[in-house]
Amino acid sequence: MTHLLILGGTTEANALAKAVAEQGVSATYSYAGRVDNPRPQPLPVRVGGFGGAQGLAQYLWDHAITHVIDATHPFAAQMSRNAIAACRDTGLPLAALTRPAWTAQDGDRWQHVPDIGGAVAALSGLAQRVFLAVGRMHLEDFAAQPQHHYLLRLVDEPGELPLPNCDVVVSRGPFTEADDRALMQRHDIELVVSKNAGGSGARAKLDAARALGLPVLMIDRPILPQRHELTSVTQVLDWLAHSGVNLGV
Ligand SMILES: NC(=O)c1ccc[n+]([C@@H]2O[C@H](COP(=O)([O-])OP(=O)(O)OC[C@H]3O[C@@H](n4cnc5c(N)ncnc54)[C@H](OP(=O)(O)O)[C@@H]3O)[C@@H](O)[C@H]2O)c1
Repeated sequence: MTHLLILGGTTEANALAKAVAEQGVSATYSYAGRVDNPRPQPLPVRVGGFGGAQGLAQYLWDHAITHVIDATHPFAAQMSRNAIAACRDTGLPLAALTRPAWTAQDGDRWQHVPDIGGAVAALSGLAQRVFLAVGRMHLEDFAAQPQHHYLLRLVDEPGELPLPNCDVVVSRGPFTEADDRALMQRHDIELVVSKNAGGSGARAKLDAARALGLPVLMIDRPILPQRHELTSVTQVLDWLAHSGVNLGV
């Protein structure tokens, strides 16, 4: 009997969950448990880590999973590596639902850095007003550059923050270019720090930065081992159909 595991936490995973539910395919949606009120899904949901690649392999076995779809964020590299290892060890088919990286357009002023550490290093220097749009997970790293005034946009109300000088906006998005332009103007932003997440939901800040002529520190994606990558829900459904999954009830 088919039973999919969707590794989620993204807009793409949510769209896939909806399509899979509509096709009547049995599946479980997995959240890491990072946000307080994750979006409800039309599928059974489980929350929390599996305990590394081995823990995931055990979960796949215990729950008779037949296919794994890694629809996590491009920066959720540990989860993606674990999925590759666990599917290799269990022999289960794995597909990744990904989104193309953003590429610079005319008028963009991007400085590329390879990772969070590179972004922190690039921020050494005089104090600036920085829109630090990297989520909550890596804020401690930026405590090494406390001279800046940071604008943070977070999904949940944060507890104590490791940055001495910051304003926080709590919002889930998606965001529009006009709203992000107004936000950056209101906060006199001089520099934007962004992960190269790709997709449309978080792109507005880059369009706004271009419109305002602001530089962007662009954190490039982590490099993952080779895996079967698909870029749309339709492609995933086709892949499932070709793997013998009966779609449509
Ligand atoms: N990184 C981002 O910028 C970002 C942005 C938006 C959304 N997200 C979403 O937030 C979640 C966590 O991202 P991350 O960057 O912290 O991941 P990560 O660093 O790759 O993962 C760290 C650990 O968290 C657990 N985990 C991650 N995703 C999981 C999932 N979907 N289901 C169950 N356990 C999961 C795993 O724990 P075990 O080893 O114990 O299994 C994993 O080893 C993911 O679902 C991702 O799609 C991330």
